[in-house]
Amino acid sequence: MSLDQLLTWVPAGSQEESLARQVDFDRLPAHVAVIMDGNGRWAAQRHLPRVEGHRAGIASVRDVVETSARLGLEVLTVYAFSVENWKRPPTEVSVLMGLLKRYLRLELETLQANDIRFNVIGAQNELPDDVRRELDVGQERTSGNGGMLFNIALNYGGRAEIVEAARRAMEAGGRPSDLDEDTFGQWLYTAGQPDPDLLIRTSGEMRVSNFLLWQIAYAEIWVTETLWPDFRACHLLEAILDYQKRERRYGGIAQPAVVGH
Ligand code: FPP
Repeated sequence: MSLDQLLTWVPAGSQEESLARQVDFDRLPAHVAVIMDGNGRWAAQRHLPRVEGHRAGIASVRDVVETSARLGLEVLTVYAFSVENWKRPPTEVSVLMGLLKRYLRLELETLQANDIRFNVIGAQNELPDDVRRELDVGQERTSGNGGMLFNIALNYGGRAEIVEAARRAMEAGGRPSDLDEDTFGQWLYTAGQPDPDLLIRTSGEMRVSNFLLWQIAYAEIWVTETLWPDFRACHLLEAILDYQKRERRYGGIAQPAVVGH
């Protein structure tokens, strides 16, 4: 997509418009991954139950997904539920699962209208049946779309993904000497996808929290104090503009942030 696609979406004269006009569309990150954090704190600041933070976070997901698709990102991945999140109170887990189902039901039309392909990364087989059914419908209905790939990381853990990939590679019975970084990548949930160029984390925490451990090897990290329910298109654009100023070195000498390098 392009600047025009984005300008029809952001309000004229807004901060988003001014930021969008500064983006270099030839140097977009191919893959942006987001650790959505701070929902609980957002709710606490308003003396609301934690789940209200998650509920409010849905509006941020909607805004970021549509903005990313209009920008022309190849892949957007959001961290919705980690393997560790099962330790949360059962009511919070069940509200999160319910929100996901609701989001998918309500957003399917928007995903279709924006040619977005929806995909789940994580151990889907361990999710409740009703959630799995909804995820299957979303993935099936959008499977023919050719625009942005939208990954939701659900029941996801980076270490678990790597262990599972190693297991599958061994079970496939190839020669150990044929296994290298590229062939190993084919056993991960993100097989065939570009690695994240930019990792965004909200709410100021400086952690990667077991997210895409293999894939973020060379990602540029952008952390904002903004809590996830307050995160909007303008923050995504700020992150992308900051990314475009970085020099990516990959352990070598400086080179500008260019997709695919
Ligand atoms: C972290 O905030 C956020 C989560 C564990 C869940 C994120 C889920 C959503 C935004 C809603 C559903 C998502 C989709 C994709 C439809 P936290 O609870 O850890 O916040 P805290 O650190 O302030 O307590």
